Amino acid sequence: MKLSFEKGFFAPLPVLIIGTYDANGTPDAMNAAWGGQIGMTQISVSLSSSHKTTANIRLNREFTVAFATAEQIAACDYVGVVSGNNVENKLEKCGFTVTKSDKVNAPIIDQLPAVIECRVLDIQEEFGETRVVAEVVGMKADESVLTDGKVDYAKAGFAVYDTVSKCYRAVVGNVGAARSIGRKFE
Ligand SMILES: Cc1cc2nc3c(=O)[nH]c(=O)nc-3n(C[C@H](O)[C@H](O)[C@H](O)COP(=O)(O)O)c2cc1C
Repeated sequence: MKLSFEKGFFAPLPVLIIGTYDANGTPDAMNAAWGGQIGMTQISVSLSSSHKTTANIRLNREFTVAFATAEQIAACDYVGVVSGNNVENKLEKCGFTVTKSDKVNAPIIDQLPAVIECRVLDIQEEFGETRVVAEVVGMKADESVLTDGKVDYAKAGFAVYDTVSKCYRAVVGNVGAARSIGRKFE
């Protein structure tokens, strides 16, 4: 018999590190779990309107999304607990350095191996959240995590967010080929 449970109804969640510039060109980054892919070329993220990131996205209408790794998890957590509204050198403090994207006016965090470059399509104020819908206009990854030109999960060391235990977990192991292993029931 199944019992009702109270928390963590959608799990696991991603650990998205959103990179933006402010009006002075100062880079900022924040951790976002409430985000996902829409179709083949778009994403959405759900942001609190008080974040510096949200203001920066409204200003530039461009941003990056890097994917957290187990190796950099402390820095990825730090950008999720401290606001660029209060700490001037937020990225420096956790050891992140950035390179400006050549596709969008947004920083790419050098220490995270895979990143997408995004351009805003729509910003919706709904249900008390700011929902940003964006088009993916570029994708970049360190050579060290690529195999045959594609991001290799076995090399990247990505982390996900466990909303129940409130911890980050490593993505490990290939448990079956998608659109293939299930065909045995055909
Ligand atoms: C694991 C984790 C997940 C988070 N997910 C979100 C999210 O999806 N949306 C959001 O608005 N804030 C989220 N936050 C909070 C922001 O990352 C945090 O408030 C951050 O300090 C904002 O930084 P900024 O003001 O420099 O943009 C999350 C924080 C953590 C630690």
